[in-house]
Amino acid sequence: MLPVNIAHKAEQLINTPLQSDCSSDNSFTEQQSDPVCAYIYDINALKIHAKQMRSQLPNNCELFYAAKANPEAPILQALSSIVDGFEAASGGELYWLRQQLPQQKLIFGGPGKLDSELSAAIDLAVELLHVESLYELHRLQQIAQNKERKVAILLRMNIAIGEISQTRLSMGGKPTPFGIEAAQLGEALTLINSCSNIELKGFHFHLMSHQLDYQNHIQLMSLYFKTFKQWCKDYQLDLKHLNVGGGIGINYSSPQTPFNWPQFCEELNQLIQTYEMQDITIRFECGRYISASCGYYCMQVLDIKQSYGKNFVVARGGTHHFRTPAAQNHNHPFTIVRQNNNNQHKLPTVTQQKVTIVGQLCTPKDVLCSDQEVAQLSVGDLVVFTYAGAYAWNISHQNFLMHDKPQMIFLAESTQETINND
Ligand SMILES: Cc1ncc(COP(=O)(O)O)c(C=O)c1O
Repeated sequence: MLPVNIAHKAEQLINTPLQSDCSSDNSFTEQQSDPVCAYIYDINALKIHAKQMRSQLPNNCELFYAAKANPEAPILQALSSIVDGFEAASGGELYWLRQQLPQQKLIFGGPGKLDSELSAAIDLAVELLHVESLYELHRLQQIAQNKERKVAILLRMNIAIGEISQTRLSMGGKPTPFGIEAAQLGEALTLINSCSNIELKGFHFHLMSHQLDYQNHIQLMSLYFKTFKQWCKDYQLDLKHLNVGGGIGINYSSPQTPFNWPQFCEELNQLIQTYEMQDITIRFECGRYISASCGYYCMQVLDIKQSYGKNFVVARGGTHHFRTPAAQNHNHPFTIVRQNNNNQHKLPTVTQQKVTIVGQLCTPKDVLCSDQEVAQLSVGDLVVFTYAGAYAWNISHQNFLMHDKPQMIFLAESTQETINND
């Protein structure tokens, strides 16, 4: 079931007749008469969700938004008064975030930072820079020294996750390009001691993505807290910042059983007491879990055909707009909005059958979901993919085949909307 405002917008998109006053502009008229392909974002729902997330966190926790999940300007603006800051993972994101959000706290992480990006991070007053390697530390010291500036950093660490159940993307205690392995911590701290322009504020961990089980995530937090305390003791460090990354997942195959954030926050609070972490700022930098649910990718059905026993629904758009299902190798959840069409009985239709929904690309990989049961689906109906607000449009190979871009529709308050189709 779609929220009422999304269902209403979807129906409007496929059922509203062409406006005759558009006809003076041929290209616009043509585009309007083509079948629909659009992202719809529910900005109000995003705000409500993010506010709830933020309000349930224990007092000494902060919620940052990882812009890589979805950096669309209306999304950032909507979150700006709710989250505590934003994480950038490239110079591009850094400049974009600073331009969109001149007053917000920014942090900067990610592997392979250029000297120019490190320099920009200092100039753009990034609050904390997450250092990924010893060589990066050297380079940062040199750049900060040349600018006669002091830079506050966290060391991003890669530690073993032991017995904690892994998710489908776990990065702890194994070879990855991310962070500094635990065995190199002593060397890193010695280096920092010799760097007069670098100030160590704490540690950063991001060892799992797609976490669906709150108890597993509590165990991961417990490991982070224990490690943080142990290192502070072993190396006599007085540190006040712990960044625990993002990685809370979306249950795409079973959205009705989401990650239990309220329960996670409650048990996190107890964990903070247990490890006496009350005076440490514990920062989350979540992306997917914040923005996924506010986005809907809508494809109007162009054709329905049978091929060697399978029903293929060919719809407008594809993985060049919405790579999430291909990237995650999953069947993406969707809902159907039926077109009001008196001639529907004449159109290709499937009833109570399994369908594979594909896009317009000339590759068999352009599949959004396979063998999914539908009650009824006809040419002209709209397939609305839910949970399309994170790692969707911005991770897609948008120029492949030079198809049109989707419409970008941002639904704000119930009556207002902005349409941005640049
Ligand atoms: C260092 C770091 N922090 C945060 C995130 C955001 O993760 P998610 O969107 O799963 O919350 C990522 C994602 O790649 C990351 O690499």
